[in-house]
Amino acid sequence: MSHLSDVTFHKKISGSPKIVVTVCADDLALPAMLVDGRADLQAFFEKAAGATGFDGTHGKTINLVTPGGAEFDRLIVLGLTSKDDDDATNWLNIGGQMMGALSGDSASIVLGEVAAADMSSCAKGLYLRSYKFNKYKTKEDDDKSKVKSQKIGIVGVAFEEAKKLWTTDRAVADGTIFARNLVNEPANILTTTEFAERLKELGELGVDVQVLDEKALGKIGMHALLGVGQGSAMPSRVVVMRWNGGKAKDQPLAFVGKGVVFDTGGISIKPAGGMEDMKGDMGGAAAVSGLMKALAGRKAKANVVGIVGLVENMPDGMAQRPGDIVTSLSGQTIEIINTDAEGRLVLADLLWYTEDTFKPKFMINLATLTGAIIVALGNDHAGMFSNSDDLSAKLSMAGEASEELVWRMPLSKSYDKLIDSKFADMKNTGGRWAGSVTAGQFLKRFVRDVDWAHLDIAGTAMGSPTTDISHSWGSGFGVALLNQLVADQYEN
Ligand code: BES
Ligand code: MN
Ligand code: ZN
Repeated sequence: MSHLSDVTFHKKISGSPKIVVTVCADDLALPAMLVDGRADLQAFFEKAAGATGFDGTHGKTINLVTPGGAEFDRLIVLGLTSKDDDDATNWLNIGGQMMGALSGDSASIVLGEVAAADMSSCAKGLYLRSYKFNKYKTKEDDDKSKVKSQKIGIVGVAFEEAKKLWTTDRAVADGTIFARNLVNEPANILTTTEFAERLKELGELGVDVQVLDEKALGKIGMHALLGVGQGSAMPSRVVVMRWNGGKAKDQPLAFVGKGVVFDTGGISIKPAGGMEDMKGDMGGAAAVSGLMKALAGRKAKANVVGIVGLVENMPDGMAQRPGDIVTSLSGQTIEIINTDAEGRLVLADLLWYTEDTFKPKFMINLATLTGAIIVALGNDHAGMFSNSDDLSAKLSMAGEASEELVWRMPLSKSYDKLIDSKFADMKNTGGRWAGSVTAGQFLKRFVRDVDWAHLDIAGTAMGSPTTDISHSWGSGFGVALLNQLVADQYEN
């Protein structure tokens, strides 16, 4: 639901746009291709800048009505100069800021001598920022009618190369948007079975999609996962997605997602305030699904397995109780202390199954797992728990590069005693303290000999403050991060 159907690239301004958007540094020099032979336009801009205090600083924007004689009516200029080098070169965010300034109008964005990769990043920023989840608004607001025909062209010398790069960048952005849509969708529409149906559509891109129903899951022995869904009228599902873009002998990379389509807490029911947010408790599954779409869309040269556990945590007469003991696929038994600690039960079986079945090079799971990670890290970093320094370092680097940040948290044997149970091999909660760590420690018991990382995305997948590139409740966090990891470390 990006309201920009596409961004195009051009050598020069075409189609007589009414609005031109461009950038300048603190010398206030506009791109040569815009002002060559148009000294009057440069002079007009400098006068307006001086009169309004616009000095080319990053984050500042000037929005002008052009004088008579100009080919376009409005000129919007964004400042680039910053003490922080990262700002001035961050074309993804600059693209987002441009879309913010345009709010639905068609325009030409004149970048001049900017590098091809930066032109494409700018397009990605525009595209991601233009996303709006308004399919359930039946009254057309001004915005909506305007954006229908919005056309944006980016003009620069590197237009040809930029066009090529955009096919890749756009595929990744479409993966993020796929994930955002899944997270934003309400749970009466996006049921477990509907989620699985939407994943089948990835087949069109060459992803092999296999849906396991409850009968199959029972046969496999995923009783920890099935226990979570047994109080819901909607049946549980596990969906396995495979993209084989690598060499036949390449070990697959595995991504595992928590897909609780709604988390009431079950019998240990949550308080009413804010419970509606729990429609986003499938943010891990959404990220894995969006990643598969991105990788297939850009034809990544890697073998990748994405696996999601789709369940609904509801409290009916069949629901799981505190005190119940379930036997997980691993054979280990789990005493349910709190039915609201359900995500780890889903992941326990998925992790065991994934390592066993696919013998992956690594496993990374994503989950909106604990409220405690929001207390610890807020909305700016996902919590990362891992048994591998190497995989952690690679994920941290991918985080910096993609601006989807992770921060490593501890795992250690000393926390294990907190989840030992009187009646079973372990219990599913560890008490009041270190809630995110005991959740990680629980998951670790279902990982044997493979590099593994658990990303707790409860604070980053939904409800984050808006950014330059996202005004969406569901952020799509994880797609850009993991795509970056695969692209930088595991292709060719
Ligand atoms: N889905 C929640 C975690 C969550 C909370 C995600 C807020 C996003 C925003 C998870 O299933 C849960 O309920 N966790 C409990 C665990 C507790 C019962 C040990 C929590 O964090 O309170
Ligand atoms: Mn819960
Ligand atoms: Zn949950």
